[in-house]
Amino acid sequence: MSDFIAVLNGPNLNLLGTREPAVYGSDTLARVEHLCTETAERYGLAVKFLQTNHEGEMLDRIHQWRAEAAGFVVNAGAWTHTSIALRDALVTVESPLLEVHISNVHAREAFRHHSYLSDIAAGVIVGCGIQGYQFAIERIAALRES
Ligand code: DQA
Repeated sequence: MSDFIAVLNGPNLNLLGTREPAVYGSDTLARVEHLCTETAERYGLAVKFLQTNHEGEMLDRIHQWRAEAAGFVVNAGAWTHTSIALRDALVTVESPLLEVHISNVHAREAFRHHSYLSDIAAGVIVGCGIQGYQFAIERIAALRES
């Protein structure tokens, strides 16, 4: 196992900062990446950061990193609510999976209340804004130390 945390972002998250700022805030994805790197460095960990709008690319990357990463932080965007393929890939990862959503999905439309990932995740962080990514990395670091 290597000393990196995989941070995976699904569809439309490249638009962070300009997309529905009332829901997702004004921070950009570049800011999220910086926050993740900064947080992981405190624990001597690196970050490999991916955003993709292509489900196959996301699956390929999970296959590539599934046995290597020290943990997975995943904001799968809308695939959270739709993708059994993503779930099937993530169930194979060998390190803790933390599911993150910037918005409080439970306070939104009913179709966002179900996640194909929550029951296979070591933890779920919703509605904490981009700080949720920081919490997820801190949790992975704590699990490594326990
Ligand atoms: C999201 C919530 C999802 O329902 C939505 O499709 C997204 C972003 C969030 O971070 O709050 O794209 O995952």
